[in-house]
Amino acid sequence: MGNYQITLLAGDGIGPEITAVAVKLLEKVGHQFGFQLNFNRQPVGGAAIEEFGQPLPPSTLEACKNSDAVLLAAIGAPKYDALARELRPESGLLALRAGLQLFANLRPVAIVPALLGASSLRPEVISGVDLLVVRELTGGIYFGQPKGRVQLENGEERGFNTMTYCSSEVDRIAKVAFELAQQRRGELCSVDKANVLDVSQLWRDRVTAMAGSYPDVKLSHMYVDNAAMQLVREPRQFDVLLTSNLFGDILSDEAAMLTGSIGMLPSASLGSSGPGLFEPVHGSAPDIAGADVANPLAMVLSAAMLLRIGLKQEGAAKALETAVESVLGKGFRTGDLMADGCKKIGCAAMGEELIKALA
Ligand code: IPM
Ligand code: MG
Repeated sequence: MGNYQITLLAGDGIGPEITAVAVKLLEKVGHQFGFQLNFNRQPVGGAAIEEFGQPLPPSTLEACKNSDAVLLAAIGAPKYDALARELRPESGLLALRAGLQLFANLRPVAIVPALLGASSLRPEVISGVDLLVVRELTGGIYFGQPKGRVQLENGEERGFNTMTYCSSEVDRIAKVAFELAQQRRGELCSVDKANVLDVSQLWRDRVTAMAGSYPDVKLSHMYVDNAAMQLVREPRQFDVLLTSNLFGDILSDEAAMLTGSIGMLPSASLGSSGPGLFEPVHGSAPDIAGADVANPLAMVLSAAMLLRIGLKQEGAAKALETAVESVLGKGFRTGDLMADGCKKIGCAAMGEELIKALA
């Protein structure tokens, strides 16, 4: 038995639709496995801008801090593009990551056999891919100071950001990656740009120094440009990929496409203590919002990660993942995954099929 507090951040665009699906499944699986989830719904992103004039109101952050885990759907809409940076929905997400000190972002990419044909890459290249991107999430060029835009005397305007890491920041994310590699196939590839960037040289030195403590992990290093190429050339070579905030942002979108749809990928963002944040890798898809055509599977798989990592409810997590495989195996697809011979259904209908698969 258990009784858990979950902060629900449905956010913008397709967020509310896919959240509705995840909530029904979480309630059902909780019932089956004998625990109860209490959902506390809070605004974030555009939804919070409308209500509070800011993308992460203090009350939302407070609720997140006081819960066992946070489930976030998606944020952002074109409507807010013109706002000052600190008022944009994306800033709310960054403030949430910083506020909860979620320095470790885990983005698993595994090929579902039923979706082999959905990728733009050939099935023989992607079959068997099972990798994990470990992205540093609260440092690097996203947060480095100084940053800004200044007017120069010669009439030019100059924009700048700083890519910075301290040794302790590299050490704590590297430790997470080494430990995850130990639980997987024991291979860790650290991705940097050490041939050009000083910050990357520090990164590489720290990761290399740590390897001695993990003799069972095979460590390699790769430059980020090569890693981008290798991901589409021979993605099966990767087990755990460790990288910085910006490189991880880019490589995880690229890795997502191996599965055919970014609508399939979950993620977890973790700190050293306190609640984790679980969210799909995809965005708010404003173009299809409210049309009941969104793919809720990444959200459902994020809920599974929440159960496994956040609440240590392995059985319930597995049940959700098995339901996703079973529904895909039966040929049900949302539009983004549609293929010949499959049955196209909407977001809510996909939720109903998942419920049936759980029963
Ligand atoms: C992601 C997103 C975010 C990021 C944006 C929305 C701020 O692209 O989670 O990958 O860049 O980290
Ligand atoms: Mg991104």
